[in-house]
Amino acid sequence: MKFFVTGVNGQLGHDVMNELHKRGHEGVGSDLSEAYAGVQDGSAVTGMPYMSLDITDETAVRKVISEVKPEVVIHCAAWTAVDLAEEEDKRAVVKHVNVDGTRNIAQACKEQDCKMLYLSTDYVFNGQGTTPWDPDCKDYHPLNVYGQSKLDGELAVSSVLEKYFIVRIAWVFGLNGKNFIKTMINVGKTHEEVRVVNDQIGTPTYTYDLARLLIDMCETEKYGYYHATNSELPEEPDSEDNLKTDGLDTDAQKPKTGYISWYDFCVEIYRQYGLTTKITPVTTAEYGLSKAARPFNSRLDKRKLVENGFTPLPVWTDAVSRYLKEAKL
Ligand SMILES: NC(=O)c1ccc[n+]([C@@H]2O[C@H](COP(=O)([O-])OP(=O)(O)OC[C@H]3O[C@@H](n4cnc5c(N)ncnc54)[C@H](OP(=O)(O)O)[C@@H]3O)[C@@H](O)[C@H]2O)c1
Repeated sequence: MKFFVTGVNGQLGHDVMNELHKRGHEGVGSDLSEAYAGVQDGSAVTGMPYMSLDITDETAVRKVISEVKPEVVIHCAAWTAVDLAEEEDKRAVVKHVNVDGTRNIAQACKEQDCKMLYLSTDYVFNGQGTTPWDPDCKDYHPLNVYGQSKLDGELAVSSVLEKYFIVRIAWVFGLNGKNFIKTMINVGKTHEEVRVVNDQIGTPTYTYDLARLLIDMCETEKYGYYHATNSELPEEPDSEDNLKTDGLDTDAQKPKTGYISWYDFCVEIYRQYGLTTKITPVTTAEYGLSKAARPFNSRLDKRKLVENGFTPLPVWTDAVSRYLKEAKL
């Protein structure tokens, strides 16, 4: 199959291109730069066909997609700087990229009669409660500018197209870009203590694992909304861990089962990496630094993947382990 991928200089686009190559699909990548500008790691994406494309340029989007004639477009490009998006002078450009840009891609897909896969986020929900969000839940209430723009991008896709996948992901990490793991390891190496929030709950997503699932999906006609992150560690019946009620436990020997907090994520990163930096759990209010409001409940219900015959992503602890080996931080 022939794929066109936006945002290949970013975390996910990079891994999607490499997965396409691995499976023998034809992949054409794009991003803002003149030539591929992601990490020069010698992987397939660095030598695959590439076209410079600003997704906000409607004419250019139409032209490029009509020339490439893909069967599927995987739309990874986005404005992803969540806090910066809150600044008054950035709001218009965030909307332009994430909403108008996405609509341009959707319209070009309609003209070419090709499938589109759009990446979205847990931030379309308000984060209230403790129940995992169902992918078909329409109770949207984004708390920040970025979340609103990603939701409006979803609505642009669903209003223009019939053959689309909308896949919500969360807490993304990949080899090609900045992410929580890299940041926490760098900070942990230079500080004796770090403070990490313990009341935002979810699961992380390794782009390498996600890329495999996205292409599995695109090879089907099972359109619709999905949630996809790495899997939770299953509960161990009768284990001592089940007696622990929250993430405040500082026993770094065993990672937490079920959904986790950023604090739990950091504990496991340091445990695997071998860092002994003290990690202090704090509430979002105590942490207090971020401009954008973030949801407390980012639990994404991923059962629909299995119900539709897709293989879910491996557990997050395994993803962290493979990532640390690959990233050589
Ligand atoms: N990262 C997360 O934690 C997270 C969580 C949930 C959902 N998502 C979604 O998952 C997708 C992939 O995320 P990611 O982490 O791989 O993103 P990323 O690393 O930030 O990559 C996005 C890429 O899109 C490019 N881009 C920005 N504006 C563009 C434009 N006008 N035209 C063409 N390309 C443009 C960026 O270029 P510049 O860097 O030069 O701007 C960047 O290379 C996005 O849709 C994102 O919203 C991410």
